[in-house]
Amino acid sequence: MSSSRQTPGPLPPLDFMVSVGSGHPTEEETIASYLEVGLACRREVESLLGPEWDWRGKRMLDFGCGAGRFLRNILDWGEIAEIHGSDLDQPMAAWAEANLCPPIAGIEVNGFDPPLSYPDDHFDVVTAFSVFTHLGVNWAEWLLEVRRVLKPGGLLIASILDEACAQTLTEVPYEEDAVGMSIWAYANPTIPYVNVLHSHWWLREHWGRAFEILSIDSGSHPDESNPSHEIPGQGIVLARVGTEADVEELTAIDLQRERPGDDRYIAAHRHQQEMFETEADDLKQRYRESEMRLALLEQAHTDLFERTGERSTLSRVRGLFRRGG
Ligand SMILES: C[S@@+](CC[C@H](N)C(=O)[O-])C[C@H]1O[C@@H](n2cnc3c(N)ncnc32)[C@H](O)[C@@H]1O
Repeated sequence: MSSSRQTPGPLPPLDFMVSVGSGHPTEEETIASYLEVGLACRREVESLLGPEWDWRGKRMLDFGCGAGRFLRNILDWGEIAEIHGSDLDQPMAAWAEANLCPPIAGIEVNGFDPPLSYPDDHFDVVTAFSVFTHLGVNWAEWLLEVRRVLKPGGLLIASILDEACAQTLTEVPYEEDAVGMSIWAYANPTIPYVNVLHSHWWLREHWGRAFEILSIDSGSHPDESNPSHEIPGQGIVLARVGTEADVEELTAIDLQRERPGDDRYIAAHRHQQEMFETEADDLKQRYRESEMRLALLEQAHTDLFERTGERSTLSRVRGLFRRGG
């Protein structure tokens, strides 16, 4: 496979870079992260597919492509292969469609749940960078949908949040034999999606029912100073769809079912509970801080009213706030 230098596509608006996880304190750092992560995705795919891989005549889907952080770095592949993108986020998908197609073949908007619009057995490769890291309740449905659109023998390359990231993203200590699949940020108003941690044993057990897991590389570059850093620090799963003979009909429940007698699930449930408790403590703290700010505002308003006799709607707003109105 050629790893020749290529000219990347245009950069999207800054808020798209932020919403796919490249947000940093300055615009310069945000752009630098977006560039670095996009290139890291290209290098990751090149290295997993190996030097013999030939894109000619191939079809690839970048599932959860966002505004094309990865796609803008593989326009040269798009000249010789049919490369598609799909995402839930309509504005980002529309931007990618308008700015990267062609040579990218097309960008589709998909729903929160499957299906994708592509036919069965369609793609040679599906990539999903920082996507299964955000799929909570419907991960199994999506894994089966990705398998549906892959040809027999087709490859899934998906990034995961494992130990390297866990240490920078959560306060709950990571233990590979515990975590399983643990979710947090359900209620965090600053994060649009849940975040998902995966233990390698859990991936082999559950994803391994739908795919042959060829390799799981641990994330190896945690960046302590930058907890929102994507890809650097993420692990990578390389999985293959079985050939027709060994692809059985599976349901989402088949993928989700816990293996009886495996006590690691007990530790995983405890880990999940600790994550929820940590998140709840954080939210309670934020609530207390909001209450304190509101009390200070109310006091300032009362002082002002006493001095000037002017009325405002603050007390009524507070009443509504307290009633949840
Ligand atoms: C952290 S961003 C990564 C985007 C892109 N892969 C990249 O590396 O820039 C997560 C992406 O997953 C997408 N996403 C979340 N849930 C999805 C779903 N159910 N179907 C498709 N995309 C989804 C989001 O819209 C978002 O673009």
